[in-house]
Amino acid sequence: MPIETQLATFEAAWLPRLNAPLADAIAQDTGDDRLAAAMQYSVLAGGKRLRPLLTVATLQTLGQTVDLKRLWRPIMALELLHTYSLIHDDLPAMDNDDLRRGEPTNHVKFGAGMATLAGDGLLTLAFQWLTATDLDAAVQAELVTSLAQAAGPAGMVAGQAKDIQSEAVDLPLADLRVLHKEKTGALLHYAVAAGLIMGGVPTAARAAYLRFADAFGLAFQIYDDILDVVGTAVELGKATQKDAGEAKNTYPGKLGLQGANQALIKTIAAGQAALDDLPADTDASLLRAFFSYFDTKRVKA
Ligand code: IPE
Ligand code: IPE
Ligand code: MG
Ligand code: MG
Ligand code: MG
Repeated sequence: MPIETQLATFEAAWLPRLNAPLADAIAQDTGDDRLAAAMQYSVLAGGKRLRPLLTVATLQTLGQTVDLKRLWRPIMALELLHTYSLIHDDLPAMDNDDLRRGEPTNHVKFGAGMATLAGDGLLTLAFQWLTATDLDAAVQAELVTSLAQAAGPAGMVAGQAKDIQSEAVDLPLADLRVLHKEKTGALLHYAVAAGLIMGGVPTAARAAYLRFADAFGLAFQIYDDILDVVGTAVELGKATQKDAGEAKNTYPGKLGLQGANQALIKTIAAGQAALDDLPADTDASLLRAFFSYFDTKRVKA
């Protein structure tokens, strides 16, 4: 099957099952109706759900059946956390964006105070959901530590801190790579790590999977930066042509569109090579199919 079809088939099978319980589960765990509405608003506005899909795909690649009765909350915790990062990223004091997932941003709809709290609620509920499961206590503890490292002050938050400090500062490419690894790569690294942890894979056997995740994560932010230049708001559900105006450090800004696209192609190749290093009896085609998300023909040669 062509890899675009494999990703689309996988999404068609899993997205409805991942999405269906969300509205009720958030409402059940939230003690204020307006806060619940604000949290549900951004989570349910859409979103590709790439991060939980990567966790499910990792478990399937390990040959495990994914029992959502046990695993739905720990798997979807990352999507709550990611959505919090988007709500806060869009705030007037951060990227000041009005459109997200095809809808007005959370602060436009609910005000900056409630949007801040909706983010706080989603961040905290993510950790509650990691432990709302009958997985072994040691597995739960490793999920909590790993998500905290990925999302917190050594991961996504560090990258966001570098991002706002380096507007109008010309970062060397090596520093920009670190910024991208932190702000975006860390959560995608965790998406794959979560599957490995839930799947009981010993640390020593994780390296190739995590190299795949890290390449996918860097490619993801390079492509996001390319789409900011060549994409449309209708297609992406968020404003485009914003990064240059805010003097953000981006791959297209530093290398030009062609150079950014070359870096994207090289990063995808590194991720593909990592998958070649999985054990010989592993079918890597589903994880490989995630690379079909990147259309390297968007930039004309
Ligand atoms: C957007 O992430 C933020 C970045 C890390 C670039 P996604 O492109 O995955 O956003 P949704 O979840 O589909 O809205
Ligand atoms: C932010 O990167 C990624 C996050 C940690 C939320 P961007 O600021 O480029 O993400 P978009 O383009 O607003 O989705
Ligand atoms: Mg940002
Ligand atoms: Mg932004
Ligand atoms: Mg962007």
